[in-house]
Amino acid sequence: MIGKEIHVTLGRREILHGLDFAAQDGRITAIVGPNGSGKSTLLKAMTGEIAATGQMELNGRDIARMQPWELASVRAVQSQSTTVAFPFTVLEVVRLGHSAGPWASEPGIPEAALARLGLEGYAQRFYHELSGGEQQRTQLARVLAQVWHPVQDDTPSWVFLDEPVSSLDIGHQFVVMDLLADYAARGGGVITVMHDLNLTAIYADHVVLMKDGQVLARGTPAQVLTDATLSQAYDHPLRVNRPAPSGVPYLLPQACRGAG
Ligand SMILES: Nc1ncnc2c1ncn2[C@@H]1O[C@H](COP(=O)(O)OP(=O)(O)OP(=O)(O)O)[C@@H](O)[C@H]1O
Ligand SMILES: [Mg+2]
Repeated sequence: MIGKEIHVTLGRREILHGLDFAAQDGRITAIVGPNGSGKSTLLKAMTGEIAATGQMELNGRDIARMQPWELASVRAVQSQSTTVAFPFTVLEVVRLGHSAGPWASEPGIPEAALARLGLEGYAQRFYHELSGGEQQRTQLARVLAQVWHPVQDDTPSWVFLDEPVSSLDIGHQFVVMDLLADYAARGGGVITVMHDLNLTAIYADHVVLMKDGQVLARGTPAQVLTDATLSQAYDHPLRVNRPAPSGVPYLLPQACRGAG
């Protein structure tokens, strides 16, 4: 996925100021940054939910020239908040994704997607009666059911996710992040907005740090998640540790208190 010179104006305000974005298939790309920095807006611009100017390509093709069904066959989207207007069951919600994608004739995918998210036994429950975290996992199952195979005919499939673990307990956060890592390892593309910088450090291959509608830094977690860059991004003194033996950057909130 490549975006060049992306501008978005909402109302009278320009929200994204001509930013460039690149994500590789086979990798997890995390978009991080403070509230209001434009992460969701960028995701919506790339998925066509809101109007944007600039050049955007998916798998080397100009998105503006792709038909909706072509896009639906190579990428699925999970928004930051999703309301389901009708009293659908969990299985029906996941089938909505499955039927929109290229594997609609392959049976068993919705059930397998639910199982991957630990939602066996939830199929006949009403979506609106689920907890927040259960709803979030159902939405990810819907996304997964749409683009179930990470590669088709040598072409990668993509998931675009806006804070997919924000309502999840720590165990399910790892379930979801492992699932995304597996999807990328098998050749798919993963673009995900994240707030948890520690999970980002563990799982992301590439990090795009946003501030005020622009990219403040981009690179590996080790390159982006530094004291100076994070303190600037979040307007708060932050201290990053690199515990041995992995050296993966780690923010310990206690150590950040009063750090200067
Ligand atoms: N429909 C809209 N009309 C006008 N301004 C908007 C609209 N949607 C978002 N904005 C503004 O655009 C800016 C970026 O919003 P966006 O939702 O992209 O932030 P975000 O980085 O995803 O934040 P969060 O971490 O809170 O989800 C914010 O200042 C927001 O108020
Ligand atoms: Mg957002």
